[in-house]
Amino acid sequence: MARKFSSFIIVSLALPVLFSVFLSCGTKTAQQQAQKDRLQWFQDAKFGMFIHWGVYSMLGYHEWVRNLCEIPLSEYQYYVDNFNPVKFNPDEWVDLAKEAGIKYMVITSKHHDGFCIFDSKYTDYDIMHSKYGKDALGMLVNSAKAKNMPLGFYYSIMDWHHPDYIPRRSWEKDRTTEGADLERYIKYMENQLTELVQNYNPAILWFDGEWEHTLKETHSFEIEKMLHKMSPDMLINDRLFKRTPGHGDFGTPENYVPATGVTNPDGTPRLWEACYTMNYNSWGYNRIETEFHSKTQLIRQLIEIVSKGGNLLLNVGPTPEGEIQPEFVARLKGMGKWLQVNGEAIYGTTASVFNKLPFFGRCTVKGNRLYIHVMGWPVDQKLLLPGLKTEVKKVFLLAAPQDSLSFQRQGNDIVIDLPERAPDLDATVIAVDLAGKAEVEPYKTVPAGNGSIELPVYLAEIKSRMGQRAFLEQYYKKTMLTNWQNVHDFPVWEFYTEKPGTFELQASYARGSGGSTFAVKVDDQEIPGVVHGVRSPFYPQNFSLGTVHLKSQQRQTRAGISHQIRHEQ
Ligand code: GLC
Repeated sequence: MARKFSSFIIVSLALPVLFSVFLSCGTKTAQQQAQKDRLQWFQDAKFGMFIHWGVYSMLGYHEWVRNLCEIPLSEYQYYVDNFNPVKFNPDEWVDLAKEAGIKYMVITSKHHDGFCIFDSKYTDYDIMHSKYGKDALGMLVNSAKAKNMPLGFYYSIMDWHHPDYIPRRSWEKDRTTEGADLERYIKYMENQLTELVQNYNPAILWFDGEWEHTLKETHSFEIEKMLHKMSPDMLINDRLFKRTPGHGDFGTPENYVPATGVTNPDGTPRLWEACYTMNYNSWGYNRIETEFHSKTQLIRQLIEIVSKGGNLLLNVGPTPEGEIQPEFVARLKGMGKWLQVNGEAIYGTTASVFNKLPFFGRCTVKGNRLYIHVMGWPVDQKLLLPGLKTEVKKVFLLAAPQDSLSFQRQGNDIVIDLPERAPDLDATVIAVDLAGKAEVEPYKTVPAGNGSIELPVYLAEIKSRMGQRAFLEQYYKKTMLTNWQNVHDFPVWEFYTEKPGTFELQASYARGSGGSTFAVKVDDQEIPGVVHGVRSPFYPQNFSLGTVHLKSQQRQTRAGISHQIRHEQ
């Protein structure tokens, strides 16, 4: 008899966390301890602001604009000469960051175009030689210092202006490489880095544009040594080392969240910071962009990253006049409001102790307290914390600590009684006080009593490359994967079968206007599907896709979905 296997395509998500994150790793050397202390502020900060700002902002399209639109240096010079951010007020930027609950900032001192927004004695290609004629970076440094805001500098190794930097762009026929000397360019870079550290004392050096050369060619290790000698506490990101695991103080995933956090080659947890744009297409100011992540998504993105042990570095691209556009300001202020109430569940926390939660939610930890961030309020008002063996002392809403919530132990699980409705639709935080350090049995997706396996989307990991668009959303009582527009986004589930068998595969989805194609993969079996029209955009219906055969017993297997959007020509 065929057993039923229901795969919910457009529903819910998971909480993927590496358990190695929580294993302590024997005795620490003095060096490891010193490194830990140096990094502690960064590890606790959780939320930073990235600022991409330079001459490219004037074109209002993309920070790569000179390359994307093949603008010759001679023409780009117009923008260099006329950069004049008359409305730039560094205090306003720092105050906005503070209001947003941001704990550090990182700004582009020099992007790929080579233009420096600081006063450099090693080049005239800097802000002192533009119309503005003032050291904008220095002004921001002073303001950040006065307001106690750690400030880091982004610095691009790749340089499309310096005559000694090679290679040229492939379209740049007017610039020969004759006489160019990369070694001399590296010297220029070392001089500028020294200048930046000695004149402004940044908290972080955030390298980028490293991909065209080897570590040897860019003197990466010598530069690290030089920087640490000048400023022993300064943090350096992994891109100086071409993102080699284990090098640099932190990893830098860009516009995606690593499914299970980040570890060093030896398995120990690695500090990481995911940088994100608030729009979809650019880091620099983009005057034609109309699509932005909502405040709700951004709050949940921060929770997601922090629950995996990382930091969020959220980008703004100020206008050429020096203002931060209203769409960004509104979202940042909204995040700040949420953090004012729930900041305790973010700052200074560590990654989740659960590998999965059986609802749309995430967990962060501080000492013996767990914070459960609930985005999908359970319909039966029962919140199940699976495999939590440690004794629970007290449970309460972080926004209302005076009222305890009742809870019961059911074997290894804890079941919390929730109020009828979610008090905070962005994310409601529930604090769970334990008698000791959390001890948790990993969660496994297994067949129900009748042999069927349900795979709600909150139990999936959402895999993506740069530019993830799909995200989870709670539609009344259902969690669904929504805004699924990118073919590189797909949910992956892991589940265990007890016996071999033939399963009927069902998909549950809503909002199909019909016609698009997709595929579900179960191990090596691929089942194609065509989306049927669904009456309600928010109320999912079940459709049978065919059957799959799972051969061996008690084995781990994965399901993924890929799909294609039919583009009308
Ligand atoms: C990339 C891009 C760059 C952007 C950076 C942010 O490497 O080249 O434009 O500044 O990522 O992480």
